[in-house]
Amino acid sequence: MAEMKENNNVLSVNNLVVSFKTDNGIVKAVRDISFDLKQGETLCIVGESGSGKSVTSKSIMGILANNAIIENGNIMYRGENLLEVSEDEFYKIRGHKIGMIFQDPLSSLDPIVKIGPQITEAMMLNSDRLKLMYQDLISDDLIRYKNTLAHMNIAIDNERKKMDALVAEVKRRKTFSSKEQIEADKKQIAAKQAEFKIFEKQTREKYMAQAKEYKEILAKTEEKAKKQVAEYKASVDSKYKKKLAEAKNRLSSASGDQRQALEKEYEALKEEYDSKLRITKAEAKKRAIEVMREVGIPEPEKRFNQYPFEFSGGMRQRIVIAIALTAAPEILICDEPTTALDVTIQAQILELINRIKAERNLSCIFITHDLGVVANMADRVAVMYAGKIVEIGTAEEIFYDPRHPYTWALLSSIPDVDSKERLEAIPGTPPNMIYPPKGDAFAPRSRYAMNIDYREEPPMFKITDTHYAATWLLDEHAPKVEMPKIVSERIKNSLEGTR
Ligand SMILES: Nc1ncnc2c1ncn2[C@@H]1O[C@H](COP(=O)(O)OP(=O)(O)OP(=O)(O)O)[C@@H](O)[C@H]1O
Ligand SMILES: [Mg+2]
Repeated sequence: MAEMKENNNVLSVNNLVVSFKTDNGIVKAVRDISFDLKQGETLCIVGESGSGKSVTSKSIMGILANNAIIENGNIMYRGENLLEVSEDEFYKIRGHKIGMIFQDPLSSLDPIVKIGPQITEAMMLNSDRLKLMYQDLISDDLIRYKNTLAHMNIAIDNERKKMDALVAEVKRRKTFSSKEQIEADKKQIAAKQAEFKIFEKQTREKYMAQAKEYKEILAKTEEKAKKQVAEYKASVDSKYKKKLAEAKNRLSSASGDQRQALEKEYEALKEEYDSKLRITKAEAKKRAIEVMREVGIPEPEKRFNQYPFEFSGGMRQRIVIAIALTAAPEILICDEPTTALDVTIQAQILELINRIKAERNLSCIFITHDLGVVANMADRVAVMYAGKIVEIGTAEEIFYDPRHPYTWALLSSIPDVDSKERLEAIPGTPPNMIYPPKGDAFAPRSRYAMNIDYREEPPMFKITDTHYAATWLLDEHAPKVEMPKIVSERIKNSLEGTR
């Protein structure tokens, strides 16, 4: 059962379709995209303005605008479909495990609140140590159980989609089919439906047996965790309650200077007791200052009490990164984090993100339209056009063996290292996403477009295990077209400095 084997994906987006209701019609912003994020990697999403990059990242963060309609798909993280979890739970995941850095640091900072409290806010929201301890103790077993159910549903869903695709295909060709063909098709569909029923039943049985076993283990773990947490609480209580009572006693019979000293002692003891049960303000501040230092903010103790306007653009972006980091996320989503900054500051921030990513072993989704940035950051690259991923592969594959004409066009628009001039801008403009073109949406702007590109959507052709592209040029019947030489040379030249 291949689907059940453990993989190293931390996040997986499957068949995501997002549209927006507007006065002019439905904007089809993201049109069926799927990708995985692997543990520890940086996946860059690149594409022109309006291609759906931010809508994708906002879907993961659960912060889409109110007029958004999620039409299909799931986003799996730790056994949960992020598109379905309750708001309360989502907030926890968003705050804790997935951090996001936006293009404009000012818009994510509150101008009238000092930097310090903005950094500690997330920590204070999830400060109950007993709860955190419990969650930690059960998390592995809980995720394993939830993953099993999620994988079952995805396996069945995929099979159902294959069946639906067959039915759709048969329907399409029906008008041109002979009687015999129609009969044969009917039989084929009936067979497929029967096959699906059996698959569904068997898959359910298999996974449910596994899930049942995991659930039993989980129930035991939960029992044990509850006990452990209760024991911890009891041990803290027994240690401090008596001490506190004694201190209070002494305090009530004291006076003058002695009273003041005892009062201080009592407060310190209370703070210590408190800190065993929750993350206190003092501790949050200490941690915030550590993180500020980690992201390269000089004099963090002093800066803690300043307002956003007292910081430069680059420093503000460091603060935003610090805020994302205090929650100790597993995944960092950066949406054009350096676009608003000037070039030298840009390079510093990129270096900072790369360093933190390595030190904390984060997995990263990095969104940009700048291929120079991609070359510096990416392990893998997904190229988006008109709401679809048109090519995905390792950074090597995308830069040195790109296959989609849109990727060629993007690559040829990298400015030359010496002359700084762009080889050619991509001709034409991106499509109106209320009426996305049929077939390959890039066809009207592509000099390699064929008839079929205007009629039928190309599937994702597999080039290697890691490299896929959706272009009819990869069909066996297509004429052999290579990436223009001038583009490949330009890429070689431009990347020599960066990679
Ligand atoms: N709230 C909204 N209402 C209507 N349309 C929207 C909304 N948000 C995004 N869109 C549309 O969805 C499409 C994708 O937008 P998105 O912001 O994801 O682009 P992007 O790739 O991030 O571009 P950029 O590089 O400019 O940031 C665009 O056509 C955009 O106009
Ligand atoms: Mg954007």
